[in-house]
Amino acid sequence: MASVPERDEFTGTETTGHEWDGIKELNTPLPRWWLWTFYACCIWAVGYWIAMPAWPLISDFTGGVLGYSSRALVAERIAEARAGQRQYLDRIDAASTAEIAADAELLGFAMAGGRSAFAVNCSQCHGQGAAGFVGYPNLNDDDWIWGGDLEAIEATIAYGIRSGHDEARENEMAAYLRDELLEAEDVAAVTDYVLSLSGAGGEAASIARGAEVFAENCAACHQEGGVGSSDLGAPDLADKIWLYGGDRETVHASIANGRGGVMPNWDARLDSATIKQLAIYVHSLGGGE
Ligand code: HEC
Ligand code: HEC
Repeated sequence: MASVPERDEFTGTETTGHEWDGIKELNTPLPRWWLWTFYACCIWAVGYWIAMPAWPLISDFTGGVLGYSSRALVAERIAEARAGQRQYLDRIDAASTAEIAADAELLGFAMAGGRSAFAVNCSQCHGQGAAGFVGYPNLNDDDWIWGGDLEAIEATIAYGIRSGHDEARENEMAAYLRDELLEAEDVAAVTDYVLSLSGAGGEAASIARGAEVFAENCAACHQEGGVGSSDLGAPDLADKIWLYGGDRETVHASIANGRGGVMPNWDARLDSATIKQLAIYVHSLGGGE
C-alpha cells in the first residue's frame, strides 16, 4: 500500500482509506471558524477557572481571583432589602395601628408584611385563606369572639387566648354535664334552646325549659338571647356561625364538656412591628367591626 494519501477525484479532499462497496470516506477538515471558536473557548475556560470559583477541593474550592461569591451577593441584597424595610418598620414601630391604617404608604407595607407573616405563623391553625377549621375561628367573617377592631385584634394576637400569658384573654366555660353542674335533662333542654336561637325547630316545652336554664346559667356570658359578648369572649350563639359546630350533637358536647380553645401569645415570638402588621392584615380580612 502506498503511504501517499489518496485524493478524491471530485472534491479534491483526502480520503481516510476506508471504503465500502466502492464508497470512500472523505477526511473533510473542520471549518476554520469552528476551530478558532474551539480554541477561544479553551482559552476562555482557563481564564474562567482562574478568575471565578471553579474547582472542588477536598473541603473547599478554588475561589478565583475576582473573589465572586453568589452567597455573599445574596447576603448583600438581603441586607439592602432589610435596610430599605427598616425605615418603614421603624415608622410602624412608632405608630399605633390606627395611625398605620390612616397612612396609605404604611398601610400598603403593613398589608404585605402581615400577609407573609400570616402565611408563616398563623395559617397552620387558621388556614391559608384564614377561613379557619373546627375550633379555629374563621378570620374572614365579621363575627369576632374577642372583638374585631384594630386594638382588640392586636391584643388577641400579642397576648393570645388562654395562653398562660398574664394579659391573655381568659374566660373558661364550665363542663356543665361532666362536672355535674346541670342535670342531663337540663343540658338537653338548653341544647334545644341554643339551637332554636338560630332557627332550628324543636319541642316547645324543652325549649321553654332550656330558656330558663340559659337565663340562669349561661346569659351571664352569652347574654340574653345568646348574642354573645366580645368583652367576655363568649361567642354569639344566635348567628349560625359556629366555632365548634352547630349540629345537635356538637352543641350538646360544647355544653356538656366545655371547650377552652387555646391561641398562643405571639409577643414572645414576634416583634411588635410584625404583630401590628398582622393586626392590620387580619382586620382587613374580616372587614373589621
Ligand atoms: C396553635 C393554633 C393557632 C395559631 C398558630 C394561631 N391561632 Fe389564632 N386562634 C386559635 C384559636 C384556637 C382561637 C380561638 C380561641 C377561642 O376559643 O376563643 C384563635 C383566635 C384568634 C383570633 C380571635 C378571633 C376572634 O373571633 O376574636 C385572632 C384575631 C387570631 N386568632 C389571630 C391569629 C394570628 C394573627 C395568628 C398568627 C400570628 C394566629 N392567630 C395563630 C389558634 C391559633
Ligand atoms: C363563663 C362564661 C360562660 C358561661 C357561663 C357559658 N359559656 Fe358557653 N362559651 C363561653 C366561651 C368563652 C366559649 C368559647 C369556648 C372556646 O373557644 O373554647 C363558649 C362556647 C360555647 C358554645 C360553642 C359555640 C360555638 O360556636 O361552637 C356553646 C354551644 C355554648 N358556649 C353554650 C353555652 C351554654 C348553653 C351555657 C350555659 C349552660 C354556656 N355556654 C355558659 C363562655 C361561657
